[in-house]
Amino acid sequence: MDKLSVLRQKFELFLDQQIPDREPKNLYAPLKYVLRNGGKRIRPLLVLLSSSSFGENMDKALPAAAAIETFHNFTLIHDDIMDHSSIRRGQPTVHEKWNENLAILSGDTMLIWAYKMLEQYDGETYKKLSSLLNQTAIEVCEGQQMDMDFETRNDVPLSEYLEMIRLKTAVLLGAALQFGAIVAKTKKEDFYNMSMFGIHLGIAFQIQDDYLDTFGDQDAFGKQIGRDIIDRKKTFLYINALEKANVKDKGLLIDLYKDKKDDDTRLISTVVQLYEKYKIPELTKKQIDDYTKSSLVYLDKTSLPASEKEKWIDFAENLMHRKH
Ligand code: IPE
Ligand code: IPE
Ligand code: MG
Ligand code: MG
Ligand code: MG
Repeated sequence: MDKLSVLRQKFELFLDQQIPDREPKNLYAPLKYVLRNGGKRIRPLLVLLSSSSFGENMDKALPAAAAIETFHNFTLIHDDIMDHSSIRRGQPTVHEKWNENLAILSGDTMLIWAYKMLEQYDGETYKKLSSLLNQTAIEVCEGQQMDMDFETRNDVPLSEYLEMIRLKTAVLLGAALQFGAIVAKTKKEDFYNMSMFGIHLGIAFQIQDDYLDTFGDQDAFGKQIGRDIIDRKKTFLYINALEKANVKDKGLLIDLYKDKKDDDTRLISTVVQLYEKYKIPELTKKQIDDYTKSSLVYLDKTSLPASEKEKWIDFAENLMHRKH
């Protein structure tokens, strides 16, 4: 087993012990279902690897890693209601398997448990971790609202899209790296650069999620392919296609997104044809590569030793080539 898989397993064992064994069963069943249902565990790995890079024993960072993964999974439960998604990680989503009311309340409960997990720290460390999670959670909600607002707009510029994904996705990866640094009581100067490293990595990560949503393999991705198109999301692909298309195709893209009567399969295949015509997949891959490279500029500015930086470069490159 490779090192990351070992670490993932260690984390999952710890997370399992953190999952509350309480009543009512209906409230806690979705929580167990989601937290035990795998996922890539990117954010907790970022926390653990960051604390270890800064010279701390990883075990000390386990509660912080569990808190961030629990927070992330809470956002997914609510996001799946908002996006009408019926599968995640290859399994029915919480509101599909149970119902929306339960998905709302068990999601809320998960958010609170995430904060509770941080109570395992004291003094300054506790204060810094909870204050960073507060700030990040507010930003994630702001990003999620922008994402929803964009569904009914067709004039979203790339700059607004980038701000939206910075908030809904990237700041949490930045916070994960900072969590590790806080637990390790790292020098103040490193916080900014680690956070920026995570944010740029997170922007690449979300652009890739947009790409996989249209061009991925459903079994590997574990989510419905084409969901973003059905939801009229203003993804990196759609915004760039509008930008590149000639007047006729631009009109067609706008009309396709307006007309909610069209059959979903036909809608997806027409949009995909237009993306391919304007070489959007290639452009998207290039952008993922560029954001990953720009993340490394910040990594390089940290005081981490070269051997640690090498490990992070590998991590970032593996993330860039993910299929799920
Ligand atoms: C999904 O996150 C939500 C996004 C920010 C794209 P992940 O792709 O990390 O989901 P899991 O936890 O691995 O399933
Ligand atoms: C999700 O963005 C970001 C958050 C959950 C905060 P998406 O809506 O693209 O995530 P997926 O594709 O459903 O995982
Ligand atoms: Mg969403
Ligand atoms: Mg979604
Ligand atoms: Mg997505």
